[in-house]
Amino acid sequence: MWVATILLSFLTARAAALSIVELGNFDWTITSQNKSVSVPAKFPSLSHLDLYAAGVIDNPLHNLNEFIQRWVAYQNWTYSAPVIGLKSDAASTWLVFDGLDTFTDITLCGKHVGNTDNMFRQWYFDVTDIVSACKAKSKLSINFGSAPLVAQAIANTPGVEKWPVVPNNIQYPFEIPNREYIRKEQSDFGWDWGPAFASQGPWKPGYLVQFKSKDVYVRNTAVDVRKQDQLPLVIPDQSKPWVINASIDLIGNVPSGAKMNYRLLDLTNKTVCSGALSDVNVTSVSVAGLATIEEGTVDRWWPNGYGSQTLYYLDYDLVDSSGSTLASVSKRIGFRTIVLNSYPVSDADIAKGIAPGNNWHFEVNGHEMYMKGSNFIPADCFWPRVTPDFIRMILESVKAGHQTMVRVWASGAYSPDFMHDIADELGIFLWSEFEFGDALYPVAKSFLDNVREEVIYNSRRLSHHPSLAFWAGGNELENLMLPQIQQDDPDHFDRWIGEYETLFFDTIFPALFENQRSISYMPSSTSNGWEMLDYSKPIPIVPRLYNTTAGSIYGETDFYNYDSTQSFNLSAYPVGRFSNEFGFHSMPSRQSWQQQVDPEYLNFNSSVVVLRNHHYPSGSLNTSNFHNSSLGMVEMTLGIERWLPTPMKEDSLKNFTAWCHATQVFQGAFIKSQIEFYRRGSGMPERQLGCLYWQLNDQWVASTWASMEYDGRWKVLHYLGIDIYSPVIIAPYFDFTNSSLEVYVTSDLWSEAKGNAKFTWYDWSGNPLKVSSKSLSSFSVGAINTTKVLELNAKDTLPDLADAVLFMEHSTQGQAPNTDTTTTFTHENYFAPISLADAKLVDPGLKISYSAEKGCFSVTATKGVAAYVWLDYPNGAVVHFDANAFWLRKGQTREVGYTVVSDTTGGKWTDEVTVESVWDLTTRD
Ligand SMILES: *[C@@H]1O[C@H](CO)[C@@H](O)[C@H](O)[C@H]1NC(C)=O
Ligand SMILES: *[C@@H]1O[C@H](CO)[C@@H](O)[C@H](O)[C@H]1NC(C)=O
Ligand SMILES: *[C@@H]1O[C@H](CO)[C@@H](O)[C@H](O)[C@H]1NC(C)=O
Ligand SMILES: *[C@@H]1O[C@H](CO)[C@@H](O)[C@H](O)[C@H]1NC(C)=O
Ligand SMILES: *[C@@H]1O[C@H](CO)[C@@H](O)[C@H](O)[C@H]1NC(C)=O
Ligand SMILES: *[C@@H]1O[C@H](CO)[C@@H](O)[C@H](O)[C@H]1NC(C)=O
Ligand SMILES: *[C@@H]1O[C@H](CO)[C@@H](O)[C@H](O)[C@H]1NC(C)=O
Repeated sequence: MWVATILLSFLTARAAALSIVELGNFDWTITSQNKSVSVPAKFPSLSHLDLYAAGVIDNPLHNLNEFIQRWVAYQNWTYSAPVIGLKSDAASTWLVFDGLDTFTDITLCGKHVGNTDNMFRQWYFDVTDIVSACKAKSKLSINFGSAPLVAQAIANTPGVEKWPVVPNNIQYPFEIPNREYIRKEQSDFGWDWGPAFASQGPWKPGYLVQFKSKDVYVRNTAVDVRKQDQLPLVIPDQSKPWVINASIDLIGNVPSGAKMNYRLLDLTNKTVCSGALSDVNVTSVSVAGLATIEEGTVDRWWPNGYGSQTLYYLDYDLVDSSGSTLASVSKRIGFRTIVLNSYPVSDADIAKGIAPGNNWHFEVNGHEMYMKGSNFIPADCFWPRVTPDFIRMILESVKAGHQTMVRVWASGAYSPDFMHDIADELGIFLWSEFEFGDALYPVAKSFLDNVREEVIYNSRRLSHHPSLAFWAGGNELENLMLPQIQQDDPDHFDRWIGEYETLFFDTIFPALFENQRSISYMPSSTSNGWEMLDYSKPIPIVPRLYNTTAGSIYGETDFYNYDSTQSFNLSAYPVGRFSNEFGFHSMPSRQSWQQQVDPEYLNFNSSVVVLRNHHYPSGSLNTSNFHNSSLGMVEMTLGIERWLPTPMKEDSLKNFTAWCHATQVFQGAFIKSQIEFYRRGSGMPERQLGCLYWQLNDQWVASTWASMEYDGRWKVLHYLGIDIYSPVIIAPYFDFTNSSLEVYVTSDLWSEAKGNAKFTWYDWSGNPLKVSSKSLSSFSVGAINTTKVLELNAKDTLPDLADAVLFMEHSTQGQAPNTDTTTTFTHENYFAPISLADAKLVDPGLKISYSAEKGCFSVTATKGVAAYVWLDYPNGAVVHFDANAFWLRKGQTREVGYTVVSDTTGGKWTDEVTVESVWDLTTRD
């Protein structure tokens, strides 16, 4: 499938130009500011990657190199190369850069070409005159300015916007300050899950384009597939025909009388329909036309688990009046609607038990659905080395996890096309955001103009993907930054709100709206949705912000509580319509640590392990702020001590391994309990319709919120997520203060399902306990709803809370969405009415064997109940087990298959797979 994707991108770039030379074919050199370093470079690339490849610097991710290599970011680097492939008979010559990170001064043949100041924009320059006047051998040279120094210089410019510093310093720096002034990936200056390299370079491809006379070069496209008359945030009318607005952004001259033709093909290249595009508009930079496709002509695209991911090719051409083709484009598209419903809760819904207020959920192809997913951070500190295979591995982990939506967080970079191509194929919605987060931003005209170009380029570039779900303006603005500045600077709050509206409503929304009507927009994740929607107004969205009424429920929630005394306290969890962030940090496995940290530092409290924990952010550039990092380590430690047997192994490496693993079990259990809570919310007054945990992936080896490690290993959380995101789950809800236990079955199917539930109590040695409770053996559960199946008071019914485990299971007949067959859904879960730190755990006597023939491991608990059974495997391979971190009853055997992601052991990793459970955390070596 990737081959097809490459072909597509190539076709897109193909046009009638005389010659297109990829700048990557030039022989590049990167040179330091004082010229003491001058080594071969790649294009696309970044300074750290080229310096590492040339041996000038060590692996940036090794030990504390993040701190040692700061000097790289604090100087300019020049990428230069002799120009090759220039045609002498060209009428004009252009340089096109798909991405330059960030501040550049470009020269060709010693002549100034231009400057750039936004890594998210595409830049293009007419260099015809320079080329024709160029006498000596032509050289292209791009001087990249140090982003931290340029940002500092902007901050020091007289008259530049400043924000109050006391008492909370609203523009708190993660590491390098002043990121809010510049249009560079915000996390390049540090974040609480990653390092701050602030690298620079040509991070995306570039082209030398030459024309004869009337040629055109396709530099971008936009394809908006929508229902006729559809408007953002308005529920689309599914009976209306589809409208495709297809356009080409070009360099060159479009002759008068130009026309556009299109062909819609299925993936076998069979033509579905074709013709001329109507309402064609031609400007000096763009051409656009419309096609109308009757409802029923095409099959719809559905997300993972909800139907098939039907895709089509849209081929469209620009032709002149004599019928010759000036440019052809081929885009793979899909037909679906997705809208954020933020309308007031109707009276009919209130009668169903839904609390008043506003909705905040997604509807896909006219269906309400429960979105399950996670949050994506930039796949690597250095984007040019991110391959489609790596992204596919991440998104396949998402798909395996029954997830339907990934929020591509707002302070990284706009997704590469290939990421959306893969998401289109796998059925994963990508909630996209403009790159602003956890700061207030300037509103100077030059800044806003720069942002507008960035919005136009990226929203058009990504518009054709059915996986594109949503656009949000930025991260944690309405729920964090605005309330904070209201506290810090109450007298000027109107001004700060006004500036927020200037950027996110008056600038970003119109720029998006002019280019795409099929996608909903909200200025911020998290938000309370809109209060008024009126397309007769210049700015149609009036945000609700803080205009809320007690007893009513509005928007999304974002929840972090690092006080582990509250970790499983359901009454501490937020009640909202949707949960777009919640998480807790954990250590990566010892195996991952060994990939980036030297053996002498493999200790929970070593300087390297602690300082690579950026929670809490240091707020500075050096290693002196050990204090903030230690706070994060203490939170993990307390989480373990309160909720799990505390590891204490004599062997130092085994001790470290156990501590790393224990942090993951705590993280996984805590986040799982929140997912259970949010999913049950679908049948509660809040009518909660989505949860996306923080965070999916990692960009280095450090303590972070991720459910997957940097090399693709799944943490405990990822396995528990796969389980608890199953379509129909059974889960316990326990109140530690009064010992009341309730068990619910929650379904995200689209029709009522009927099932049976079974409950068995055991002591830890695996002997059944007689416990009487009010329970339903057979039940029905409504569409996206929940039903209570058991209720008891643990203290009143159980002889010993420390020696009791509830095993619960259900088997339910239901219909998976968009199928007409009945399927049996099953799920099992366990519950202990006391912290596992206090439970009377016994050695469950785990045994493991491997069958090469069946390609699976077989695990048995021979002596008792085993909690969080963990299959572990050595370095050298990355393997995803079909299940892990599960529980076993005494005498139960579970077969566990696996998928090999990568393997350099020649298959020998299977010999070294071990099994343990939380009981093993405390046992001596
Ligand atoms: C050039 O710059 C590097 C890095 O900033 C520095 O280490 C080196 O001493 C400088 N060399 C000269 C000759 O100034
Ligand atoms: C470094 O880059 C900045 C930003 O482009 C520029 O203003 C400055 O002149 C450059 N300095 C050198 C020595 O190249
Ligand atoms: C469809 O056409 C494209 C472009 O000509 C070609 O690359 C591709 O292999 C064809 N696909 C099939 C299934 O025939
Ligand atoms: C071209 O412009 C007209 C007038 O503004 C508009 O009605 C039409 O929809 C435009 N066509 C496209 C493809 O946007
Ligand atoms: C969920 O199920 C309950 C019990 O059948 C029912 O009263 C409630 O209206 C349902 N909620 C929704 C939103 O349909
Ligand atoms: C608050 O919202 C309500 C609608 O929910 C609206 O009628 C009212 O005018 C709003 N108040 C303010 C101060 O915006
Ligand atoms: C095991 O690691 C923990 C956490 O770092 C530490 O407190 C404890 O002393 C270690 N135990 C041994 C025996 O090294």
